[in-house]
Amino acid sequence: FKLNEFGYFFACVYSFAASSWVVAAFWIVSLCVLLSFGVCAWKKCLRKDKDKKKGKEKSKHVRCVCVQPLKVEIKKETELSDIQPKEDEKLGRLHFTLDYNFTDNMLVVGILQAAGLPAMDVGGSSDPYVKVYLLPDKKKKFETKVHRKTLEPNFNETFTFKLGGKTLVMTVYDFDRFSKHDAIGVVKIPMSSVDFSQSLQEWRDLQKAEKEESERLGDICLSLRYVPTAGKLTVVILEAKNLKKMDVGGLSDPYVKLHLMLNGKRLKKKKTTIKKNTLNPYYNESFSFEVSCEQIEKVQVAVTVLDYDKIGKNDAIGKVLLGGSVAGTEQHHWSDMLANPRRPIAQWHSLQPQDDINALIAPHI
Ligand SMILES: *[C@@H]1O[C@H](CO)[C@@H](O)[C@H](O)[C@H]1NC(C)=O
Ligand SMILES: *[C@@H]1O[C@H](CO)[C@@H](O)[C@H](O)[C@H]1NC(C)=O
Ligand SMILES: *[C@@H]1O[C@H](CO)[C@@H](O)[C@H](O)[C@H]1NC(C)=O
Repeated sequence: FKLNEFGYFFACVYSFAASSWVVAAFWIVSLCVLLSFGVCAWKKCLRKDKDKKKGKEKSKHVRCVCVQPLKVEIKKETELSDIQPKEDEKLGRLHFTLDYNFTDNMLVVGILQAAGLPAMDVGGSSDPYVKVYLLPDKKKKFETKVHRKTLEPNFNETFTFKLGGKTLVMTVYDFDRFSKHDAIGVVKIPMSSVDFSQSLQEWRDLQKAEKEESERLGDICLSLRYVPTAGKLTVVILEAKNLKKMDVGGLSDPYVKLHLMLNGKRLKKKKTTIKKNTLNPYYNESFSFEVSCEQIEKVQVAVTVLDYDKIGKNDAIGKVLLGGSVAGTEQHHWSDMLANPRRPIAQWHSLQPQDDINALIAPHI
């Protein structure tokens, strides 16, 4: 039995107070109180130190986010800055023309170019494109081509609308194959403010785009692969995220339905399994269709995300239409697939309201 210093001290205390148990108890209790005070003070000191360090780490973290090679992280940071909007935040400018054709009663919108766009991608650039529509008719939406890696895109495209709409909306987006497309900014022109007797050419500052994004239905990631020699089209439904809640209380039980369409007719139908109780389902399920080379330019694939309901009707959460004849980023995906035969090409798509897509599918011929 070896006495260390502490034990020795206790032994001393004990022997000193041995004569009276009460005195000993008093000594031990007061020693404990003293000790715990000491520990408390020490801990508090430590915590203060930690807090100081944490503060430093926080600011460091934000700086780290900037150099993260991940789009998602950058997105988080822009959200952070959204909380405290900067007054002088520059979103760039859009150059456009408005012309009127009174014989046909048409509005001709020319999207010429954009300048001074902010960099949305890690590489200090963006892949901008413009979506144009004339409210209240949101079904007729046009999109320009995506211009790669530029902050000064030259679009030079025109779109024609029936006169009679209320507000012209031109939104500049940053194309991103792997996440949802960020709206860079928007120019809105109330038709009531426009002098129809002369054509207009103007630069306007982009404003922050908000409202539209709040009615999001979710996004779906899928890959397309075409093997021309075998006449085989393969669609892999990979995952969906941020699906809109369809039930009041809980989550959804989403599954995905695919239709192969030709001239507005459904040729084939397939569906994934049902994923229970989630708004971010992962499927990784593959579906193949026989599509000849002559047909591949004409067919469309309608992809619908539905909420499975045991009792009632299954609600459609949203839909996308892929094919050579559809506009915008969906068409982009299709042509990427055709340009890379045998290779699966994956891309994220924003779900659209089912009615909007069905209006596109209706046979034109
Ligand atoms: C209006 O459109 C029609 C047909 O697209 C065209 O023939 C006509 O020249 C246009 N008129 C004007 C003023 O541009
Ligand atoms: C825009 O397109 C028109 C017609 O397609 C062409 O004549 C003109 O040179 C183009 N302008 C620019 C700046 O690319
Ligand atoms: C997806 O499915 C394919 C084929 O069934 C499989 O090879 C692959 O590992 C799966 N990927 C993931 C991430 O589960």
